[in-house]
Amino acid sequence: MSSKKQNILLLGGGGRECAIAWKLKNSEQCGNLYLSPGNAGTREHGTNLPISVGDFAGIKSACLEHSIDILFVGPEDPLVAGIWDFVKGDEALKHIIVVGPSKEGAQLEGSKAFSKKFMERHNIPTAAYREFTADNYAEGEEYIKKHSLPVVLKADGLAAGKGVVIAESTGEAIEAYRAMIQDRQFGDASSKVVIEQFLTGIELSVFAFTDGSNYVLLPEAKDYKRIGEGDTGLNTGGMGAISPVPFADKTFMGKVISRIVEPTINGLKAEKITYQGFIFFGLIKVNGEPYVIEYNCRMGDPETEVVMPRLVNDLVDMILKMQEGKLNEVTVQHSKQAAGTVMLVSGGYPGDYAKGKVMTGMDKTSGSLLFHAGTAVKGDDVVTSGGRVLAVTSYGDNIKSALAKSYENAALINYEGVYYRKDIGWEFETPNP
Ligand code: AMP
Ligand code: GLY
Repeated sequence: MSSKKQNILLLGGGGRECAIAWKLKNSEQCGNLYLSPGNAGTREHGTNLPISVGDFAGIKSACLEHSIDILFVGPEDPLVAGIWDFVKGDEALKHIIVVGPSKEGAQLEGSKAFSKKFMERHNIPTAAYREFTADNYAEGEEYIKKHSLPVVLKADGLAAGKGVVIAESTGEAIEAYRAMIQDRQFGDASSKVVIEQFLTGIELSVFAFTDGSNYVLLPEAKDYKRIGEGDTGLNTGGMGAISPVPFADKTFMGKVISRIVEPTINGLKAEKITYQGFIFFGLIKVNGEPYVIEYNCRMGDPETEVVMPRLVNDLVDMILKMQEGKLNEVTVQHSKQAAGTVMLVSGGYPGDYAKGKVMTGMDKTSGSLLFHAGTAVKGDDVVTSGGRVLAVTSYGDNIKSALAKSYENAALINYEGVYYRKDIGWEFETPNP
């Protein structure tokens, strides 16, 4: 174990980064912690720097000024834009440990077509698909006409979570296809479109942390993406999460490891794709069998708000082991306690919503962890500054008791338009094992 304290710069400013900052600060080996840009909550754990995650020159200056040892990349955009390659290609920065893959590795998330081809090459179970561009546009229309319904269309590139359409009719699918390719709805991100089979099942999120050859699995989680209770209404960034996931039993997780996690990590290694960091497997369980819906090259949000609290190990130590290629020496311990998080959002979200609403009541809560997402400081106040505002996480002997605590505290927090789902974890009434 290294004795030198590590100065860390954590990129991002959401609930995920607030939870990661909390976890890093729990480590004896964490030196100075900086966040760029952070939010009102991350001030409790470190120093916020007003630098956006895409400002590589600003990030470089901050790394040098603050003698950064570890650059921890929270969101996908800087990874897909090549922050790893930027750091490793710069004489003054290349000694810095980057938590996150190379630009090529980030293609697992940055290009749906890349990830589908990768899965095909390595025999990793996923929905059947074809990809289309302007060059074979008409063929795509014919493919849609013959496809079973619903049919799934995905913009190839990053589209801020809006690039997936599940079309219930052929007409709707063709319209979405036209908008993506001909109207360039998402710019270059939709110049290529993946059309795939709809899978029916129950989703979960599995997280591996890899040094490029070895890996450890973090606690799995389930998030609740829809705005409305009973999983209805529009998709959001995530309205809550639970961990562990009751249906991710030993048999199922065994299949996930042997058919998905290991072939992915071995595939990256065999293809010489540099990858040190998190792989988020967005999975679906169909008749007991796991399939990949998507890969992400980072942790999930709000999953991180339950995964980090359930990770017993020292995260800085794990990062140092990652750097040395020695994650095989780490035995991950998952807390026996369950965790549940409830996301408080702005009224109107995921549509238009107001910002700058003064938040009150956070000081009245007890027994929960408050992970800020879209919050900012205004004078002496903490105000809302985003759609997803605050994650209230609690531990419990089971999912239900964890969530009961989160709901008790969520009810004490107020701002104009506050909304949260009252039914996170609703399908798991029985205590988890
Ligand atoms: P993605 O951005 O690929 O994760 O897709 C967003 C959401 O769309 C997923 O979390 C699923 O709920 C849904 N989805 C994506 N692909 C499929 C599929 N092939 N079958 C069923 N649902 C899907
Ligand atoms: N919760 C899903 C995601 O982070 O993409």
